[in-house]
Amino acid sequence: MPSSREIPGAPAGADTARAGSVRLDHVTHRYGRSGETFTAVGPVDLTVPAGEFLVLVGASGCGKSTLLRLIAGFERPTHGSVRVCGAEPRPGVTAGVVFQTPRLFPWRTVGGNIDLALRYARVERARWPERRAELLARVGLEGTGKRRVWEISGGQRQRVAIARALAAENPLLLLDEPFAALDALTRERLQEDLRRETDRTGRTAVFVTHSADEAVFLGSRVVVLTRSPGTVALDLPVPLPRGDVDAERLRACEEFAELRARVSHAVKAAAAA
Ligand SMILES: Nc1ncnc2c1ncn2[C@@H]1O[C@H](COP(=O)(O)OP(=O)(O)O)[C@@H](O)[C@H]1O
Ligand SMILES: [Mg+2]
Repeated sequence: MPSSREIPGAPAGADTARAGSVRLDHVTHRYGRSGETFTAVGPVDLTVPAGEFLVLVGASGCGKSTLLRLIAGFERPTHGSVRVCGAEPRPGVTAGVVFQTPRLFPWRTVGGNIDLALRYARVERARWPERRAELLARVGLEGTGKRRVWEISGGQRQRVAIARALAAENPLLLLDEPFAALDALTRERLQEDLRRETDRTGRTAVFVTHSADEAVFLGSRVVVLTRSPGTVALDLPVPLPRGDVDAERLRACEEFAELRARVSHAVKAAAAA
């Protein structure tokens, strides 16, 4: 029986044609044009099946954000190919993207920021109130729609940014160190909510961090990149339970500690190599 994560009618076994799947074939990206060019990332070969939560970890400057921008379609690779659901990614259409800083419109209300995303996603205007309320509930912000962006906390702003990325209902979510600037308690709460949300909906996620702890908690798979130009140094499945789990117990279990140590060790070794 086909999984609910597959697009009905997609050819069997054609992984890259499935909802949310990502495929990078020998991707290299260079910055600069004439004369002096700088290789930021690659070569990278990576296939992310639909429904996977992939976390990319690596030292600062190894090319994590570049890889994410290539998957989002904001940039085209210098060499190789990037495919999302079997097609070339289209900026603003292929994926919901969350950045380190929330990038909200400060003069709009929380609800007004969500409405912009709904308009962009071409959701019928009559459905906005219902969709807005539903999206805010999904990120734990019920009843905040009328508040101004400057009236809410940093953690709440990042929740609005996540709700906005969820608005388009596209099957791929790309997140670039979205919780890095938050305090530890808020960060853990947001990690738990994001993990539950993506597991519930079966969305594919590619999440960038430099925290081994965050990587193992969130990811169903963790890829550690070498230092610049980043290539795959470690590709590690994370066989921890998903769905409705007790986050505290998960973080405290032995397997979690072992996996975190492996990732942490690989990140340090890659940075020193
Ligand atoms: N637009 C750009 N032009 C030139 N160099 C860039 C640009 N964006 C990033 N870089 C360089 O590419 C390398 C990788 O950057 P980035 O992908 O942002 O790494 P990370 O997200 O892992 O910190 C860095 O050395 C960075 O300075
Ligand atoms: Mg970055």
